[in-house]
Amino acid sequence: MSKKITIPRGTADILPGEVVRWQAIEKKSRDILALYGYREIRTPIFEETELFARSMGQTSDVVQKQMLSVIGSNNFPLDEDGAEKHFLSPRKIDMRGLYALRPEGTASIVRSYIENSLDKSEQLSKLYYIGPMFRGERPQKGRLRQFHQIGVEAIGPDSGSPYLDAEVISLSVRLLNQLGLRNFQLKINTLGTPADKENFAKFLRKQLTDKISKLCPDCQQRLERNVFRILDCKNKDCKAIVDALDVGHSHLSVESQQYYTSVKETLVGMGIQFVESAKLVRGLDYYTHTVFEISSSDLGSQDALGAGGRYNNLVAELGGPQVDAIGFALGIERILLALPQESATNENPLGCYVIALDQKSLERAINLVDGMRQKGLSVDMSYRISSMKSQMRMANKVGAQRVLILGEEELRNNSITVKNMSSGEQKTLPLGDVSSLVEQLGKV
Ligand code: HAM
Repeated sequence: MSKKITIPRGTADILPGEVVRWQAIEKKSRDILALYGYREIRTPIFEETELFARSMGQTSDVVQKQMLSVIGSNNFPLDEDGAEKHFLSPRKIDMRGLYALRPEGTASIVRSYIENSLDKSEQLSKLYYIGPMFRGERPQKGRLRQFHQIGVEAIGPDSGSPYLDAEVISLSVRLLNQLGLRNFQLKINTLGTPADKENFAKFLRKQLTDKISKLCPDCQQRLERNVFRILDCKNKDCKAIVDALDVGHSHLSVESQQYYTSVKETLVGMGIQFVESAKLVRGLDYYTHTVFEISSSDLGSQDALGAGGRYNNLVAELGGPQVDAIGFALGIERILLALPQESATNENPLGCYVIALDQKSLERAINLVDGMRQKGLSVDMSYRISSMKSQMRMANKVGAQRVLILGEEELRNNSITVKNMSSGEQKTLPLGDVSSLVEQLGKV
């Protein structure tokens, strides 16, 4: 027997019964995002690796450990005459650079914002995306190598307002509420300007230097290279050291503190509940000022439903204009895990199911089904002749509201038998033209 090919580790098939839940989340999210003035943007699922390295940070876990490279000349070296050696070679695609599957959406959206000069056409670009992201993480419950995010980014000269921070944060909460989530907690913090961040880093280094020997080997390196990562370390000893740290907001400038106060006051005014956590720094380098994270007690160790924050320098750092920006992303798989499991429902119950009992009826049925579909009816049929009983079973399975039966007798009388599956009522209708049949079907 040939070897079965299985799905890559850390990815999942979403079968039709499950897709219904995804579609409901996507539809509801799109409707809510439109209320807030967000418009959808679609960018490629792979980009130059450098885009992610420069935005998320060379020392971030995502860039250091989780980037998934895309097949290109780097993976399959060119032979002498320039032809790819690999039999699946993407010969026609010029991929001489290093490409990676996108681990998140923000960097790609900023790249696109700059490349399409969106700042020239609007003061504030409110953009959203729904799609797959890829990270080479060790898979576990709620942590996949291909997962999906619903994300928003509000970028532009008019983005730098604490009211927008509050609106974006409240949008993430409203979305989760509307999607049916209940037990979640919003944590917020501010990192201030890059200068404030540098002060914070100095403060942390000072506090941690004499404890260096007790930190895990990774964190010993992080002390110099990226001290903020120590605050997220899962190692027991590092956690204990971090828990004991007394961290406040003394490293922030007065302006940054005022900005943060405005964000909080606006959130309170909107009735959004939050807790403050001065140790919330987020794992990606681009954040400035407000950062936030939403976690759910209905999830296990991977409890973050979503997260986001401000990134006022990223557009300029990637070669664009100096414009402010803020955004967040929610993880769809985690939303689904945290939602109560509903029993599978039939997503699109069929209007009609046509049963043919012999070869002649089958030939007639094919044309009839085609005609009914052209009139806008959802209708299906069995393409093989089998017993009435087994075809009725199939009609039930697909949730058909009406079954149309064609057999020898019906064809002789140029009629069709129609059965309403919920009332059990049965009628014989003339099998004249499709339009009049469709019209009469509504009465059975
Ligand atoms: P993030 O915190 O890396 O932020 O990811 C956001 C959310 O994506 C997480 O809270 C989680 O729900 C989901 N997620 C992340 N990794 C995985 C995984 N391996 N498996 C399943 N779900 C996962 C960002 O991605 C930022 N781009 C958010 C942002 C937008 N900041 C500003 N704008």
